[in-house]
This record gives sequence, structure tokens and C-alpha cells, in this order.
Amino acid sequence: MTPIDILIMAAGKGTRMKSRLPKVLQRLAGRPLLHHVLDQAVNLQARSAIVITGHGAIEVEAACAGAAGAKGCFDLKFVRQEPQLGTGHAVLQAVPQLRDDGMAVVLSGDVPLTEADTLRALVAASGGEQLALLTVTLPDPSGYGRILRNAVGAVQAIVEHKDANDAQRAIAEIYSGIMAVPARLLRGWLARLTNDNAQGEYYLTDIVAMAVADGVPVVAHRITDALQVAGVNSPLQLAELERAHQLRQARSLMEQGVRLADPGRFDLRDDARTGARGELLCGQDVEIDVNCVFTGRVELGEGVSIGAHCCIANARIAAGAVIHPYTHIDGEKMGATVGEGALIGPFARLRPGAQLGREVHIGNFVEVKNSTLADGAKANHLAYLGDATVGERVNYGAGSITANYDGANKHRTVIEADVHVGSNCVLVAPVTIGAGGTVGGGSTITKSTAPGALSVARGKQVSIANWARPKK
Ligand code: UD1
Ligand code: CA
Repeated sequence: MTPIDILIMAAGKGTRMKSRLPKVLQRLAGRPLLHHVLDQAVNLQARSAIVITGHGAIEVEAACAGAAGAKGCFDLKFVRQEPQLGTGHAVLQAVPQLRDDGMAVVLSGDVPLTEADTLRALVAASGGEQLALLTVTLPDPSGYGRILRNAVGAVQAIVEHKDANDAQRAIAEIYSGIMAVPARLLRGWLARLTNDNAQGEYYLTDIVAMAVADGVPVVAHRITDALQVAGVNSPLQLAELERAHQLRQARSLMEQGVRLADPGRFDLRDDARTGARGELLCGQDVEIDVNCVFTGRVELGEGVSIGAHCCIANARIAAGAVIHPYTHIDGEKMGATVGEGALIGPFARLRPGAQLGREVHIGNFVEVKNSTLADGAKANHLAYLGDATVGERVNYGAGSITANYDGANKHRTVIEADVHVGSNCVLVAPVTIGAGGTVGGGSTITKSTAPGALSVARGKQVSIANWARPKK
């Protein structure tokens, strides 16, 4: 097998994005466009990836360090192209880094949705010796380089839109911007490029005619799916590719049997904070209502139901659990787990380290952080459990909170099995409520309580009989 070296053109400014961020760092499904392209180096088991930077070079180079695949799988190199004198000039900058024994695969940093199989087929078409172009037929080819073929259909050249005559402009087969080319041939052809054309640029596409003149066969690997070669130039195009990508993910889940109420209103994103890939692993009979956003790795067990408008990140939800609408679950790095048959929400919030057992109920406006709730525990209304260990069957009343933070350190609250905490209590940590105990509503508990005890810590009620209210 010929070694593969990937060249990624990423020097362009992306003026139409009207953003401070270099275009290739705009996010698709939670990750920079360029990371999606760098994935191809992993997919193709490339020896190296050379990123050609220009506008925002420092930022772009720094962002590549964070790309998942860049860690050891292939050699990651950068070259700068300043100023930007065209795609041929861009690739020329990478030539000193290219080894002659390899096949160079040219990609653009702003074309994120090319499928790995397409690139494998392109490389296979080149046979390690020939120039292989990825082409696509478009209903509206304007703006693109057209593929010129001779009478027997052999590719002769690419003519850029601005240099093309009317007959050439009528050609619907266009060059995608992606090619596979033997490095040793590329080197020679690039050295001969000129900028004698309508745009005064060094066109990479001019090497096609050079190959033909040199007797090197040029093959076109033609695909029909325009999405795979679509680039991002504007916020609208970015959103269109995002939606197309999401629809692709939604369809693949539905093929596995997941029931999405509307595949057009589904999002699965990579987690930029943790670097976790967007991954939704579903058991049988999972139902997901509209407008849910999944981030990072999320597991949904058999029969799980996710209500509308939920945001769920880095979490494991066991079989039969029901997540009601507007629930926010974010396990961040620690993760969050929901046990079998649990009922969560609506409007619940589970934060990192929330570990809920079987049949746990978490109701509206309840926040759980770094806390374990054993089987059957319930917190149904307006409550906070932070740094708490909650036993089986505990009932945690409306409006109750753990005061886990003393302004400097965090402390744990232990609520043993079968405790009943009334409404509007403050449990000042560190504190333990003994098994089977009861805390009277409105209590502020600062000292641990014995098992089975009733603890009340609030002002005693005073009632004055027949009290006359003041009058004006
Ligand atoms: C190029 C092709 C055209 C093809 C089209 C597909 C050439 C001459 N033309 O068009 O045949 O149909 O792609 O989208 O190659 N870039 C640099 N440095 C430069 C110029 C461009 O890094 O000096 C980068 C851009 O940031 C972009 C990519 O190269 O990522 C393609 O450039 P773009 O201007 O979009 O493509 P065209 O030249 O219009
Ligand atoms: Ca251009």
C-alpha cells in the first residue's frame, strides 16, 4: 500500500462568515470543521496530515492540537501560506514537507461531510500511480471548476468557472476540490503552474491538463451526493450542513429502531469541553420526542423515553426510565446516571456526579449534583441535593436543600434509608440524618440526628387568641 499524506487547505479567510473566528474553526455538531476533516487522516490511516494555514494561523494551529485523532495516530504538520495566491500556491507550500513515495490526498478544511468510504474509493481509483479527482454532478454548477472530457469520456482538464466559455459552463460535472495525486508527480507539476488566468491565481486544477500532457492517466471518481463535497462559506451554509449532518445521524438511529418523533428536530453533538464524541447508544424501544440535544456519550437503556426539549450530556440512563420534558442532564467529565424505571422531570436538573438508583423520582425544579440517591428515593419538588448520600426510599420534601458549601469547603450530607425530610428544610453539612428519622418542615438541621428520631429545629409557634389587627 502506498502511504497516504493528507493536505488540508485551511488558509482562507472566510469573509462571508463575518466572524472573528477563522472559518475552519466554526463548529459543526459541536466540533471545529477542521477536526471533521482531520478525522479523514484517521479514516484513511494516513501517515501524516499537513495543514496549510494563513488567516488566523496561530489559532488554527493551536486548535488542531485538540483534535482527537491528532494524538499519535498520524504525524501532524503545519505550513503557512502568506499571502494566499490560489489553491495551487497553497499546496506548493506543503511540498517541502511531502515525501515522494506517498499519495497526497488534497482536502479543504471547510468541507466537513465527506464520507470515509468515498475517500477510500478515490485513493483506490488512483491506484497509487494516477491522478484521481472526486467529481460530482450538480443541478447548478456555477462557480465551480468544470470537468472537461474528450470524445471517449477521458478527463482532459478542469476549467474554472471564471475562465470557462458558455459551452464549458453548461457542463454539470464539477471538481469537488478533493483529489488524490502521487506526491512525486505533484511536485513537478506545481513547479510549472502559472497565474495566467481570469483570477490571477495559481490554480491547483491546472495540474490536470499537465498530467494528460505527460501521459499520466486522470481518473474521475464521480459521486451523486453533493453534501459530501459541500463547503461552508456563510452562516446559512453552516446551518444547512449542520442540519444535513444531524438528519444523517437521526436516520441512522432510526434504522437501528430508535423512534424519533421528528428526525428533523434531533441533535447529537460532540462535547467541546471534554472532547467526547457525540455518541448515542440506544437499547430497544427507545423513544425520543422533539427538540432534544444530546452531547458527548449518552446511553439510553431499553424502553427509555425522553420527553420534548431535553438537553442530555455525558449520561447513562437505564432501562425503563422516563425523562419528562425540559429536563437538563449534564454529567460533564464525571458523568451522571439514572437508574432503571426512574422518573425525572419535567424541569429537572442533574449535574455531574448525580447517581440515581432504581425507581428514583426527581420532580420539577429539583437540582442534583455529586449525590447518590439509592433505590426508591424521591425529591419531587423545588429542592437541592448537593454532595449528599441519600438512602433507599428517602422522601425529600419540597423546597429542602443541603447547605453543602461553607464558603470555603464542601461537605457531605448523609440521609440514611427511610428518612422523611419535610418541606423547606436546610441540612447544614457535614450532617447525618439517622435511618428512619423524620425532619420537621422548616427545620435548619446543624447536628446529626439519631435513627428513628423526629428532629424539629425552628421557632416555636406562638398563637395569640382573638388578636386585633392594627387599623388606619
Ligand atoms: C476550487 C477549485 C474548483 C472547485 C472548487 C470546489 C481551484 C483553482 N478551483 O475553487 O475547481 O470546483 O474548489 O469547491 O482549485 N485556499 C487556500 N489558499 C488559497 C486559496 C484557497 O488555502 O490561496 C483554500 C480555501 O480556504 C478553501 C479551499 O482552498 O478551503 C478552496 O478554495 P476556494 O476559494 O473555496 O475554491 P475555489 O478556488 O473557488
Ligand atoms: Ca477562490
